[in-house]
Formats: sequence, structure tokens, C-alpha cells
Amino acid sequence: MLQGKHILLGVTGSIAAYKAAVLCRLLRTAGAEVKVVMTQTAKQFITPLTMATLSKNPILVEFFNPENGEWNSHISLGEWADCYLIAPATANTLAKMATGVADNLLLTTYLSARCKTIVAPAMDCDMFSHITTQNNLATLRSHGVIIAPSPAGELASGLTGKGRMAEPEQLLELLIQTLNPEKKKSLQGKHFVVTAGATIEAIDPVRYITNHSTGKMGYAIAQALSDRGAQVTLVTGRTTLPTPQGVTRVDVLSAEQMYNATTEAFKSAHGAIMCAAVADYTPAKVAEHKIKKSDDDMSIELVRTKDIAAALGAVKGDRVLVGFALESDAGVKSAQSKLKRKNLNFIVLNSLTDKGAGFGVDTNKVTFIDSNGSQSLPLMSKAEVAEKIVDKIEQELC
Ligand code: CTP
Repeated sequence: MLQGKHILLGVTGSIAAYKAAVLCRLLRTAGAEVKVVMTQTAKQFITPLTMATLSKNPILVEFFNPENGEWNSHISLGEWADCYLIAPATANTLAKMATGVADNLLLTTYLSARCKTIVAPAMDCDMFSHITTQNNLATLRSHGVIIAPSPAGELASGLTGKGRMAEPEQLLELLIQTLNPEKKKSLQGKHFVVTAGATIEAIDPVRYITNHSTGKMGYAIAQALSDRGAQVTLVTGRTTLPTPQGVTRVDVLSAEQMYNATTEAFKSAHGAIMCAAVADYTPAKVAEHKIKKSDDDMSIELVRTKDIAAALGAVKGDRVLVGFALESDAGVKSAQSKLKRKNLNFIVLNSLTDKGAGFGVDTNKVTFIDSNGSQSLPLMSKAEVAEKIVDKIEQELC
């Protein structure tokens, strides 16, 4: 899988440095040639002897070998590497990388390297969630650095939370995807539920209440998730669209059926994207036989349906939940209150007034709204919007 690839493994001073030994071995087994750069502090967590033996190369720590003056060129190391994987990456190293500090070989090599860099953060949960660390990660991401997810779990401090280093097997997978971008399977092992299309609320055996949603946006999201290796359950109202490749499709009609199918699928999911235009009201009674007309006007009593997004929001924990909103006016404000009420990670706001956006068309113009504010995207195809949504979901999973 990594035959002939040159992987530079950077190791910094974290308890998780012991995982670097397993990682190094996995890289070698996958066929890569590995060179290891360590910081001085990293040597206190794992010995250079261990890493040199596993990588089959001398360990690089200093700018030059004090014994014989031999120069460890950060420039040629950067040129040699097909990928620079820094695992574990401490808060300190991430901060230095984000600001261009170059006070050791690991950092000067980062600044010189022309190849892709992946970092696997490893630290205590409070350090990880600290605004400074999160800002540094955002800066590095904007510089093109790939940030490996830091799963929640028990930490060396005894606390439980986010900040653990990703497992070596996950990092190997991420590295393979990075070096083979056409096979990017960044959501392998994740399961998502997507709702799409319009629901149909029966009035009698012949008539029903529905809306103009065609399901195009939800189907594009299901495809984008599946393309990145996720398992996808698409709970869909009636549409004429073909089932996206690799996706499990569950057909429903009413809001009640969509509620049942979606809440069931969500039990084993890592997240849900609520793209369906679900009826907010349904007839209080469905007439058993076709209703005969008379000369009188008639009215139908409607009752509220269950809010599926809010129901998932109530049980979601740290899973990702994305909502949609369609607004004709005061969009952002109303979406922000929906974000809180339904406990969503973010809302994709479509405007009814924007040209090229909304029902039936192949393009969309959306604004992402989360607890930090809003980000408006230009008009683009629904497939491109789906990619942006899935990119944001990946960030939320970190
Ligand atoms: N939603 C849902 N179940 C419902 C109603 C809505 O899951 N019974 C979801 C939708 O799929 C969408 C989000 O909730 O992701 C927002 O829908 P809604 O609250 O109906 O907002 P709008 O469609 O923008 O309309 P309004 O607030 O004006 O009713």
C-alpha cells in the first residue's frame, strides 16, 4: 500500500509517543521507508533505540551530530519525504507550527517540507478544547495541514474527553488516503443517516398534502458521504431520483414513517443530515374512503407532526447533527434559534429569494450557520454544496 513511499515520522513529547512505535512498524509493514525525527522531550517518552530499530534508520534529533559534526539537513529531509506525519503532536508543537517557530529539527523540517503534512494531536482534553489550541489547529488547517481526528476517551491525566491521539491503524489509513487522493475514504467506518425529499400526508386514499422538494440536495449529500467511504442510510420521501451508489435506501411516505425509520437508523449512526422537507402538520384523521364533494366549503383539521431533527438532537450526545432551513426573510436569525432549539451542530440555510437556489434546480446558494456565526457560499452545483457540507461534517467530527 505504501510501497516505495518515503514517510517522515515526527515524534514530540507526549505520553502517546508509545503509539509512534506501533505506527512506525505499521508503516514499514505497509512497504514505506521511514525516517524518524524526534524532539528532545520525545526522547523522554520513547527511546531513540526503539524508534531506530523499528524504522531501520538512525533517529534525527539535532541539527548536526555532535560526535562527528555531520549535518542533518532539514531541507533534504523535506525533499526526501512523500508525507510528513507528526504523531503525536503536542499543543506546544502545534502552536509553534502555526506561528512559524523553528527552534528544533522537527519544526525546521516542517517549514522546509513541500510534501503534505499530517498532524495527530495528543493532549489533555482541556488543552485540546482551549481556544488557543483550536485556533492553532484552524490556522494549520487553513495552511493545508491535515489534522487527524482526536477521539474522545480516557486520557493519561485520568480525565475523559477529546484529545487522545488517533490510533496507529487510523493514521495509516489517513496516510494512504492522503497519498492516493482519488481513493479518499476519510469517513470509512462511519455511519450517517440522511433524510431527503418531501413527505406525503394522506387526506383520503386519493388526496394528500406535500411540498415541492425533489430530494436532489439530500441525494447529493448521501452520494458525497458514500464516496468518502461512509455507510449511508438514506430515508427518503417519494422521488424520481436514482439511488446513489453504495447507499442503503429506506422509502417512506409520511412524516410519521420518516420519524420511525430515521430514529431507528440513528441508533447506530455517527451523525445525521436532515435534508427532508418534512410536513409540519398532518390531517387529524385519514378518511377511509374517497371524500365526496358537496356544495359546501370544507376544512381539514391538521395536527402537528413530530419534529425528527429535534428528537435526534435530544439524544445525539457528541454525534453530528445537521439541519436545513428554507427562509424567505430574516433567515439567519431564525436559523440561529432553530440551531439551539434542535441542538444542531450547524444549519444549512437556503434562501427562497436567491436565484438558482431551492426546489428542483441543480444549483444552490447556501449559508452555513453554527454557534460561531455564519459563512455564505457562492452559487454552486448541489454536488459541490454537498462536498462543502461533508467537509464541514468532517471538521465537526475532529
Ligand atoms: N425537520 C424535521 N422534522 C420535522 C420538521 C423539520 O426533521 N417534522 C427538519 C428539517 O429536515 C430541517 C429542519 O428540521 O433540517 C428545519 O425544518 P423546519 O423547522 O421545518 O424549518 P423550515 O423548513 O425552515 O420552516 P419553518 O421554521 O418556517 O417551519
